[in-house]
Amino acid sequence: MSIQQYQTTKQGGPFALVTTPVPKPSVGEVTIRPRAVALNGIDWKNLKFGATIRSWPAVLGVDGAGTVESVGEGVTAFKPGDEVLSYARGIQGSGAFQDIYIVSENVVAKKPAALSFEEAASLPICFLTAGAAITVGLKVALPGLPKGGNSSSNQPQSILVLGGSSAVGAAAIQLLRMALPSAFIVATSSEAHHARLRSLGATACLERAAQRDSAALKATTPGGAGFDAVLDAVGAGVEAPEVYDAFRADGPKLYSLVVTRPDAKVPHGLQATLVGGQDMLDVEPNAMAYLVKLVEEGKYKLPVKIEVVGKGFQAVEKGLERFPFAVSGAKLVVAL
Ligand SMILES: NC(=O)c1ccc[n+]([C@@H]2O[C@H](COP(=O)([O-])OP(=O)(O)OC[C@H]3O[C@@H](n4cnc5c(N)ncnc54)[C@H](OP(=O)(O)O)[C@@H]3O)[C@@H](O)[C@H]2O)c1
Repeated sequence: MSIQQYQTTKQGGPFALVTTPVPKPSVGEVTIRPRAVALNGIDWKNLKFGATIRSWPAVLGVDGAGTVESVGEGVTAFKPGDEVLSYARGIQGSGAFQDIYIVSENVVAKKPAALSFEEAASLPICFLTAGAAITVGLKVALPGLPKGGNSSSNQPQSILVLGGSSAVGAAAIQLLRMALPSAFIVATSSEAHHARLRSLGATACLERAAQRDSAALKATTPGGAGFDAVLDAVGAGVEAPEVYDAFRADGPKLYSLVVTRPDAKVPHGLQATLVGGQDMLDVEPNAMAYLVKLVEEGKYKLPVKIEVVGKGFQAVEKGLERFPFAVSGAKLVVAL
């Protein structure tokens, strides 16, 4: 028995469909036959720069949704045929762009019945990363998930989300609104997304250009005092350090920076933390089940719309050509 893997043969490509043996799950693992996979910045960075890949060929893809093919010893939460979504091992080069992929059971969750496979595939990594940016970076606990947070008396009350229309940013806005119902949340994005970001919980939205204008940023906060915290979903502060002047002078100056490049560094003088999706799993190994619970309770929406770029693995290559600049307020998805 064999499967097809959509391999990236070396840094820069090309891709090749290669026949390999059916993967077998070890203890605590699940294999999944994806019906849809999402494309992410990290897939493009790995194709282009080999950002996290140690050896080639590699199978990229960090987001998938499909059906359980088989389960390893000790797995009781899932059985073959279950419809699921999962985080996948594309960062390690053994990801979702193949007929059947292996993951640990804790990064798998049952697909909400109301979501299509394409919608479900758009959810995992941006949720994990936004969750990490909040619980680890800002030390704010998520409701029902007390780990990683701080005491409730010490929570930021004014927060700037840079890159609000990115999948991570839009995920963060709604999680922040849930965690801090009375907080003042300002997001930056292109104007086309402002109404949507307000509907997800942003108090106010500003054009990206405002990231270079600390006075304009501060002017949006109560009394013009500035922000307690900045959640930087896209590494915008690295290009526009003016945003650091928008912190409240006597505030905690919390800066939660999503790792967008391997050499990312935190700026001096701030309470800065670099975060990635894996950090959320370290805080809460069953974060995927928590995500699905929020979706089913109507508390968490698709952060960005999905755009299905094609059907079949060959559509992955074409979709990745859209990165890094031609993706705005959308998650590109490939149907399988
Ligand atoms: N380390 C990790 O574990 C991890 C996990 C997930 C993501 N990431 C990284 O985090 C970043 C965000 O990921 P994503 O999937 O959310 O990205 P995405 O949705 O593909 O990002 C596209 C969006 O980013 C916005 N944007 C881009 N550059 C910006 C800037 N300088 N200022 C403000 N907005 C900007 C654009 O806004 P407009 O079009 O509205 O202008 C666009 O809507 C990526 O670099 C990704 O690789 C890291």
